[in-house]
Amino acid sequence: MLFDDAHAVTGASGGIGRATAEALEKAGYTVISASRRLTTIPSAPTGITTHQFDVTDADSVATLERTVAEHPVPLTLLVNNAGIPTHAATVADSDVTDWRGTYDTNVIGSVQTTQALLPHLIRNRGHVQFIGSTVGRVPYERGAAYAASKHALAAMVQTLRLELNGEPVRVTEIAPGMMRGDEAGGEFMRERFNNDPEAIAAVYQGVDHPLTPEDVAECVVWCATRPAHVDVDLMEIRPLAQAAQHKVHRTS
Ligand SMILES: NC(=O)c1ccc[n+]([C@@H]2O[C@H](COP(=O)([O-])OP(=O)(O)OC[C@H]3O[C@@H](n4cnc5c(N)ncnc54)[C@H](OP(=O)(O)O)[C@@H]3O)[C@@H](O)[C@H]2O)c1
Repeated sequence: MLFDDAHAVTGASGGIGRATAEALEKAGYTVISASRRLTTIPSAPTGITTHQFDVTDADSVATLERTVAEHPVPLTLLVNNAGIPTHAATVADSDVTDWRGTYDTNVIGSVQTTQALLPHLIRNRGHVQFIGSTVGRVPYERGAAYAASKHALAAMVQTLRLELNGEPVRVTEIAPGMMRGDEAGGEFMRERFNNDPEAIAAVYQGVDHPLTPEDVAECVVWCATRPAHVDVDLMEIRPLAQAAQHKVHRTS
């Protein structure tokens, strides 16, 4: 540990959250990782402590706040990363339960976690980051519920920054584009496409080097390690092959 700072990452049992927890730990911070599953970080480096946490559950959020309050190292960064996709479906055919679930996790979850930890971040002159998506600006077909949740998240983040103006807290949204979590697409894509490997393969067909969770984690660390007066409001990142949401270069 190099710094006397604790950083909390939600949804850190896999994907971007896990890569971020590991990158922050490697950069010298104490990391509080919070997700429903603990078992997927069995060999967590000593600088990472894992906490069972459900972003949709108010009691769980309150427990995380107590953990932060009792932690010997002050919290200076919260990364609101926990998020879920919706199953691919048209607006006409989508299940409203899916809409509610996505909104509850991706929007309300980030709101209630931020509400709980904001007093610590204000006191410690900290930073709150949100993992949004390029879909939070430009939607794609068969993804309306997810796109709507990320649009809502972006609106909330922009509002929060206005409301915190004058407080010593930085507010950042990181919006990744096409990402591949692992060889099979990642848990997020398996969920989105109901574990259909052909549908997942079609997304990445002929795309040279989609983003990886580690690419996004590096952006989180970079934004966090700028001087305290430098607030990166929004960082949109895509693979080189993706010039825009619907403009993807494919070699095959
Ligand atoms: N994959 C992409 O293509 C992509 C692109 C742009 C943006 N994003 C965004 O990046 C973030 C991470 O995505 P990812 O691809 O890394 O997904 P992932 O591999 O599926 O990981 C999602 C993480 O969120 C956690 N999570 C889900 N529901 C939760 C809940 N109710 N409470 C606490 N933790 C919860 C999961 O852990 P548990 O199941 O253990 O709780 C898991 O650690 C999301 O906000 C996503 O919208 C993803």
